[in-house]
Amino acid sequence: MLKMAVYAVLLVALCFSVVNSEYVNRKFCPNVDPSKCSIHSVKLDPCADGPGFCLMRREKPYRLSFDFTPRFEAQNLQLSLHSDDDNSGNFKTVIMPAHDACVHQTCPLEDNVRTMYDVDFVFLKKVYGKFPIQMKLWNGNNESEACCFTFSVKTLK
Ligand SMILES: *[C@@H]1O[C@H](CO)[C@@H](O)[C@H](O)[C@H]1NC(C)=O
Repeated sequence: MLKMAVYAVLLVALCFSVVNSEYVNRKFCPNVDPSKCSIHSVKLDPCADGPGFCLMRREKPYRLSFDFTPRFEAQNLQLSLHSDDDNSGNFKTVIMPAHDACVHQTCPLEDNVRTMYDVDFVFLKKVYGKFPIQMKLWNGNNESEACCFTFSVKTLK
């Protein structure tokens, strides 16, 4: 009986998550050591079309939420958000410049402690098409200690 109730709750939760499909597929950044950070999930809100990519509108507010476990500690934590909107692999467009990540979450970042971050941003550049966005969080005292991932968005005219 209890087992059935648990399944029912799971099923409802599953349907809910499919309808609101905000989770996005993410990839590790090629130039960053992936062993320094376990990323459990990445969500963009709103993202009605996930998880392959999110349809994104200019000048609208978005919230990127990521659930991760860093394999390093940091007192000085930096965060940046860039897009590679010409698909050159360079992530040249600044969405959020490098800044103190402690405005998004309590600091310091502790080694091996699972943490959630919410980052609010607006995409302003007039570019159309599908391209990746890169989120990077790193130890300001040692840049080789970082959490970094990319996910795909598509902007429309
Ligand atoms: C920077 O971090 C790497 C990876 O954790 C570590 O091997 C290295 O010793 C650190 N460098 C300094 C100067 O602390």
